Amino acid sequence: MDKFDVVIIGSGPGGYVAAIRAGQLGLKTAIVEKDKELGGTCLNIGCIPSKALLTSSDHFMFAQKEAVKHGIVIDKVHVDLPKMLQRKDKVVKTLTGGVRALMKTNKVTTFEGLGTITAPGKVSIKSPNGEAQEIETKNIVIATGSVPSELPFAKFDGKTIVSSTEALCFTEAPPKLLVIGAGAIGLELGSVWNRLGSEVTMLEFLPRIALGFDLELSNLLQRSLTAQGLTFHLETKVTAVNVADGRAIATATKGSEELRFEADKVLVSVGRKPFANGAVDKKLGVEFDERGRVKVDAHFRTNIEGIYAIGDVIAGPMLAHKAEDEGIACVEIIAGKSGHVNYDAIPGIIYTNPELAGVGLTEDQAKEKGIEVRIGRFPFRANGRALSNEDTEGMVKFVADAKTDRILGAHILQHAASELIAEAVSVIEFGGSSEDLGRTCHSHPTLSEAVKEAALAVEKRALHIVNR
Ligand code: NAI
Repeated sequence: MDKFDVVIIGSGPGGYVAAIRAGQLGLKTAIVEKDKELGGTCLNIGCIPSKALLTSSDHFMFAQKEAVKHGIVIDKVHVDLPKMLQRKDKVVKTLTGGVRALMKTNKVTTFEGLGTITAPGKVSIKSPNGEAQEIETKNIVIATGSVPSELPFAKFDGKTIVSSTEALCFTEAPPKLLVIGAGAIGLELGSVWNRLGSEVTMLEFLPRIALGFDLELSNLLQRSLTAQGLTFHLETKVTAVNVADGRAIATATKGSEELRFEADKVLVSVGRKPFANGAVDKKLGVEFDERGRVKVDAHFRTNIEGIYAIGDVIAGPMLAHKAEDEGIACVEIIAGKSGHVNYDAIPGIIYTNPELAGVGLTEDQAKEKGIEVRIGRFPFRANGRALSNEDTEGMVKFVADAKTDRILGAHILQHAASELIAEAVSVIEFGGSSEDLGRTCHSHPTLSEAVKEAALAVEKRALHIVNR
């Protein structure tokens, strides 16, 4: 077999997008995937199936509670869960099939099996039937992603104590669901099962939910989710989870109080950890940091020449789009171009209803850095389109440098925040100011006008605001 220019290990959004870009750049490229389907965690057991269930369960909520406000009376609504799960699986299948087609289009050779770097320029592939082969390449990209973190006292058993993987496939809504960790995964899947009928209790170690997002908007989200039926216990440290007869009993401490929770299922969503098991022969000496992440420099190079790493397996936020951008930059560097990722302009989103989105610095982070900022806020209740949609919850909040007016951060709580944040990301990417955004024409009537208004509010000149 001819020598490849680049072999990518792992076909998640980091790996498969890197492969597409490498193909576009004319590099002879291969991708190695241990699982049957391409697409990694995001497409198979993460972002995509969770969004499918979030949308379906959101529609159910609309039919149950919101439709009537529009004069649409639906007498009897019920969930056909097998059908909902089938739709989710079909979406996943369409997309993983699409990735396979993209590999062909871009002349990327696909290998199924566990890829292990045995030496610089050499990758051995052990296929599911046990056969092994070795391929040669000039460059290797490790894009092996991450797996859910476990708690030592609550190990996953796949039935009662579960990770997000199983919580995407419950065949019935568990009557009582306990969620440990109120981050993105806990809030999203807690929302799904709350909407589908579970009594959901969220236990969070910190005094707040959604760490990393703007505190003011996170508090508003917590209030909204509480009104939807989720119960939150903050500053609550789970100390034990025992399973007997298929039911779980968790004990936790909250200050001096000891709490006890009974549940049918426990979702442990306390973060993810990098996964590179089997991808690198230990003898090679590729360096890892204290958290098990592959160490790389600003050009994604490990300490071994010709071996690179991107995505969840290296430092930084564990987000599909961060991995994609790194994959592109990495293969551009391999091809002799100047690939680059702007880590100040990577949005984060929690797809609850309302959705919480943020990019750049929060107000608190800016203060911690000693940057003097001005804040612009605009509530959706003052936006005509939001009112027409009967969807007025939330606000847009900008953090701008007080001296230069440059936008440092943007934060949105709204049903469509995941789409609305894109505009702010572009403005931050181009180094724009609140005035730039405030002077940009926005279609009327749209939710995006609230983004413009919040930018104007930085200079205290939002238009549609009474009692400023
Ligand atoms: P996370 O790191 O976002 O949140 C975990 C939460 O668990 C934290 O608030 C932490 O304080 C809490 N916690 C940890 N140990 C605890 C304990 N013993 N008792 C109570 N609370 C405890 O982790 P999550 O939600 O599991 O997500 C994992 C990764 O996947 C994150 O990096 C996240 O960004 C990413 N992800 C992103 C999504 C998105 O962009 N929408 C969706 C799903 C995951």
